[in-house]
Amino acid sequence: MNTAPFSQRVIEWYRQFGRTTLPWQQHKTPYKVWISEIMLQQTQVATVIPYFERFMQRFSSVTELANADIDEVLHHWTGLGYYARARNLHKAATIIRDKYHGKFPENFDDVVALPGIGRSTAGAILSLACGQHHAILDGNVKRVLTRHNAVTGWPGLPKVEQQLWQLADTLSPAQHIDQYNQAMMDIGATLCTRSKPACERCPVAFDCQAQRQGRQKDFPEKKPKKAIPAKDGFLLVVRQQQQVLLQQRPPAGIWGGLWCFPEFSSEAAIKAAAAMINADATLHPLPAFRHTFSHFHFDIQPLLLDVSSDENEFNETMLTPQAGDAVMEPKATLWYNLAQPSRVGLAAATERILASLQTASIKELE
Ligand code: ADE
Repeated sequence: MNTAPFSQRVIEWYRQFGRTTLPWQQHKTPYKVWISEIMLQQTQVATVIPYFERFMQRFSSVTELANADIDEVLHHWTGLGYYARARNLHKAATIIRDKYHGKFPENFDDVVALPGIGRSTAGAILSLACGQHHAILDGNVKRVLTRHNAVTGWPGLPKVEQQLWQLADTLSPAQHIDQYNQAMMDIGATLCTRSKPACERCPVAFDCQAQRQGRQKDFPEKKPKKAIPAKDGFLLVVRQQQQVLLQQRPPAGIWGGLWCFPEFSSEAAIKAAAAMINADATLHPLPAFRHTFSHFHFDIQPLLLDVSSDENEFNETMLTPQAGDAVMEPKATLWYNLAQPSRVGLAAATERILASLQTASIKELE
């Protein structure tokens, strides 16, 4: 059992098992480390490598990056996702060109003031590239520290985050901070993984609280789910042979500007609207489903109403709040041809209902 201090065990592990041959670890500069750290946020090392190499070939310095067109930068980012990262990189590069003559700043406050660089990323760049003494606390390190110390509470809470920073600072060694920080990220990424952590290979397992209690799964705690209300909605699918009636939602509110079936807030309202279209009509329920928005669950019941083409009484104004009991005033109305779909933006719920309509009609044919 290795009972050396925490940071010493971490550094020893790094010397034996850490990654040292990654492209951003060769001839390290703050610029290379910066680009790699931004790419590595939410993206795995194996995915990042080819992107990093192409990026460096095209934008070999801060000034090259600053002088490039944002569209070209975004093109080099295509496939990595989270495009705000690329926009911030470009913005920061122009600041470095204009304010620091193209030389990446080496003062912590200057670095952390750049767009897209927070306390942990600034610490990572300056420790890995310049050997400066800064603690880091990215998602990987948070997982190692919350497990090792059985830190309770969701790490996104300011109180918990503050406690973790304190811990990260206290554990940081006076020497070899670059190796220690890289090792902590590597341990978090490769051993102390979210599921099935490899504790048997971990240099800090023997005094890890979570491991001792067999509670690795309990740390870090998950973001508390907020209780959100549920609301019912009834969507009227008016079908006339191969066509269904869609309305464009007003710009404000859910599905703003997208195309959707007319919405009613109660079964009575949708029945009244259907009766107005055709007094003898029958409404056929299509499969109900829940669509969750950030602030509420929408329990949707679509109801199918077939109308024949020679029905003259049908008039789209019946499906408005004034004439019927529809929830919203549409921006526009369209007969959407199922065989030749229009190239318009469909709400997620619309796509789902259109798909169920295809299966429903197949079932009827059988
Ligand atoms: N994730 C973020 N930065 C990293 C790094 N430098 N090494 C491994 N994983 C990382």
